[in-house]
Amino acid sequence: MIYDNIVLIGFMGSGKTSVGKILARQLHKKFVDVDTVIEKEQNSSINDIFDEKGEEYFRSLEQKCIDELTQKTGQVIATGGGLPIYSSIPEKSLIVYIDADFEVILNRLTAKEHAKRPLLQDESRAKALFEQRINTYKELSTFSVDANQTIQTFIHVIVDFVLDQRIL
Ligand code: S3P
Repeated sequence: MIYDNIVLIGFMGSGKTSVGKILARQLHKKFVDVDTVIEKEQNSSINDIFDEKGEEYFRSLEQKCIDELTQKTGQVIATGGGLPIYSSIPEKSLIVYIDADFEVILNRLTAKEHAKRPLLQDESRAKALFEQRINTYKELSTFSVDANQTIQTFIHVIVDFVLDQRIL
């Protein structure tokens, strides 16, 4: 298989954006973040999109965004935590699951990062969402990495895997 792009998936706050930026730099690829693209295109924050237009509308934006982004190749694409649950990720994507435990995620997020995420506000609901989603993340992934340590400790595991693959 020759992959078009590297797509990072995982629960909110697992580190997809930070990992994506480092990975793209190391692999000399362009980094794009689906949430950031949506916020720019809508000229609105994720919180405001959820409040004003609703989650279903946001999910339709995610599908449109990943479809458009993957018209191009050779990118590292960070997705929002719900994207692989509600949207289909185009074939020929090398999908890396950033696999961090729920408690690790909660401890890692700053108050500001926590506040940006509408679906994290109720902790018991967020935990249930986490439990519901992890199997899908695992099933969809080409490769998963244990992300419970700092990024510096696991980034080379992803780089080594990716360098063995054929990516445009
Ligand atoms: C969501 C994750 C968020 C963002 C939105 C919904 C989710 O992205 O897309 O708040 O459903 O898990 P991050 O995974 O970058 O936090």
